[in-house]
Amino acid sequence: MSEHVNKTFVAIKPDAVKRGLTGQIISTIEDKGMKIMGLRMVQATDQMLEKHYEEHVDKPFYSELEEYMKDGPIVAVAVEGVHAVENMRKIIGDTDASEAHPATIRGRFAHMSMEHADDADSFYRNIIHASATEDEAEKELGIWFSEDQLYEYQNTFQQEVR
Ligand code: PPS
Repeated sequence: MSEHVNKTFVAIKPDAVKRGLTGQIISTIEDKGMKIMGLRMVQATDQMLEKHYEEHVDKPFYSELEEYMKDGPIVAVAVEGVHAVENMRKIIGDTDASEAHPATIRGRFAHMSMEHADDADSFYRNIIHASATEDEAEKELGIWFSEDQLYEYQNTFQQEVR
């Protein structure tokens, strides 16, 4: 496989699932030409979240982040494509939805700022997560998917690349 092709992990968070945004978000990934290689609805556990957000567990916002991520099922998506990690981070937009470009998923579907969420003592809901690096993607795919839940096949765009 080309060194330019990589895999990433995307979580459609409980607020997006409850708002019925799952289909639009998956369409956005597919419209870009990237391949869905795994898809499952999961109720996150404390243990999964502690692994997933390993570097944030000691931060003051962690308990709220954990509660938010357990507030309903998430839709876990495994994505493959040319620079999929980097492309997905561009597509989701800035972590702070109030700063996210309006053409991004967070920019389209959320407008809350972290500052406001902290002041209002409410969950910081930002719709979606995507891995920041290839190493993080590998780790996160291992948390949310077992190997037999990931499917290797060629999508139309990959077949067209000769
Ligand atoms: S990122 O996207 O990983 O670079 O963002 P980072 O700033 O490192 O934040 C890591 C995750 O923690 C969430 N976060 C917060 N949640 C609640 N309250 C506050 N103040 C807060 N600050 C950061 C942020 O949404 C990131 O979650 P993910 O799932 O990665 O988007």
